[in-house]
Amino acid sequence: MDAPLKQRVAVVTGASSGLGQHFSRILAAKGAAVALMARRTDRLQTTVAEIRAAGGTAEAFALDVADADAIAPALDAAQASLGPISIMINNAGVGGEGAALEITPETWDATFAVNVRGVFFGAREAARRMLENGEAAGGHARILNIASIGAHTVLPGLAAYCASKAAVAQMTRVLAREWARQDIAVNALCPGYIETELNAHWFAAEGGQKQLKGWPRRRLMDAHDLDEALLMLTGPGARHITGSVITLDDGQTL
Ligand SMILES: NC(=O)c1ccc[n+]([C@@H]2O[C@H](COP(=O)([O-])OP(=O)(O)OC[C@H]3O[C@@H](n4cnc5c(N)ncnc54)[C@H](OP(=O)(O)O)[C@@H]3O)[C@@H](O)[C@H]2O)c1
Repeated sequence: MDAPLKQRVAVVTGASSGLGQHFSRILAAKGAAVALMARRTDRLQTTVAEIRAAGGTAEAFALDVADADAIAPALDAAQASLGPISIMINNAGVGGEGAALEITPETWDATFAVNVRGVFFGAREAARRMLENGEAAGGHARILNIASIGAHTVLPGLAAYCASKAAVAQMTRVLAREWARQDIAVNALCPGYIETELNAHWFAAEGGQKQLKGWPRRRLMDAHDLDEALLMLTGPGARHITGSVITLDDGQTL
């Protein structure tokens, strides 16, 4: 088996559906032991069983990333079970839908609690452990934050979401700079639209279909379209890639 991530331990937040579930499968297929984290642990267990049946290593951990105090214990539990963490995928996210004239302070705060604060403390707690466990010194430390095209493109009706993803993109650059000397690579992906539970309702509706027809290629992306970038930014070749915010959108924003 082609296993560039053998001996690496990866954490994926928001691994109970959509992109996080997909990333977990891909990382495990490339040899990483994967700690899947989210609130819906029953769904994590199904994916863990599937990864193990395919010969991979995985474990499920309950985590609400909006609870900043819960992140460190979840990472410690993952290390105790799987070994020193070297890859952290901060993927958990919510849509934060709401027209600007209508969105409530509660929805705004809930969006930022997951999409921004959860990513920051996920990255910070992972970095602390990568420094302590020798993975940073060994040149293996990779943090990948999942932003969105909303970080740099206007998505109407999604002010909270776009603002949160712009924060993720800029936070990624700051963290990359702060941890440059310690050899922790921090990068972000800005995917275009991929149908998942986050947006399935939108693409089933007329508005979503109209939006799709407005893109140059008139199609949604597939989660597999992110695989090469995922593996590049988590793999051995990314030691000299840090502070990059990479858009992968099949031309949706052209
Ligand atoms: N799909 C797209 O078109 C697209 C495009 C660009 C970027 N993204 C980004 O990709 C990431 C994944 O989205 P997706 O499309 O895969 O959506 P999804 O299918 O709805 O998955 C979202 C994941 O986030 C988890 N999550 C939500 N709140 C959480 C919390 N408080 N604590 C821990 N986990 C939480 C959910 O798990 P639980 O509910 O079980 O906790 C779920 O596993 C998000 O950051 C999203 O913004 C998606």
